[in-house]
Amino acid sequence: MKIGVMDSGAGGITILNTIRQKIPMLDLVYLADEFFAPYGERSPADIQSRVVSIGCFFESQNVDAIVVACNTATVIAIDALRARIALPVIGVEPAVKPAFRVSKTRHVAVLATPLTAHSQRLKELISLWREDSNVHIMSSPTLAFDIDAWPQSKVVVEETVKKLCLKMIESGIDTLVLACTHYPLIKKLFAAELGPDCEIIEPSEGVVAQLVRRLNQTYPTKFPALLSSVTKGSIEVISTKGLDNMDRLTSWIEDRDSITAKKSINLSV
Ligand code: DGL
Repeated sequence: MKIGVMDSGAGGITILNTIRQKIPMLDLVYLADEFFAPYGERSPADIQSRVVSIGCFFESQNVDAIVVACNTATVIAIDALRARIALPVIGVEPAVKPAFRVSKTRHVAVLATPLTAHSQRLKELISLWREDSNVHIMSSPTLAFDIDAWPQSKVVVEETVKKLCLKMIESGIDTLVLACTHYPLIKKLFAAELGPDCEIIEPSEGVVAQLVRRLNQTYPTKFPALLSSVTKGSIEVISTKGLDNMDRLTSWIEDRDSITAKKSINLSV
């Protein structure tokens, strides 16, 4: 069985790595929409048509499900994608619910791209789960893009993280929600600034649990049969912006030995 995983760049690899750890027998196709990155400051209409095109591409590759491994694309475009594609579509939403549960100081920071930070969906999630918590919504217009340029961008990324964390510490937070899939790639930097008493929450385990649920529901024979197989699946990596950044992109993949193809495609929208 084959799963399509997409993001604007390297961020979704945090989810891909967890899928790989939990269900290694799946074939994975990772699409980094680098041509259109960063998503965080695009218009919602542009992201919707882009994500639908990526969905159609995955459909043409005969995937069995699509993981939108990007908070921005999920909050802005998952409904449009589901309306167009008949496959199971799994998204990634800001993990505010567990954050509100664990916070003792009742101060929680949510760090996202500007588009996610200002989205109606984030507001809804917060009002659904916050109870008595204080929420500090923070965003960076540059951080995801700079992470895509790691390690050359290390100094800039470290400076941005330092500034953001200083504000979080001033706000008295003890819990941080990483609400952009790029940010867990540099979780260690946040942990170093915020110290051991701050809980940092990222969503990949929850996304994979949801993927398993949807695969079991949609493919009640095929998926359990796959789980009993011992053969590891392949990993194919696709960029929409040529192959120049491919080595940097694939360097985030933990199981690099399973990469069978590195390609570039033109995605017309
Ligand atoms: N990784 C993406 C997210 O989870 C988006 C990064 C971007 O392109 O702005 O929001």
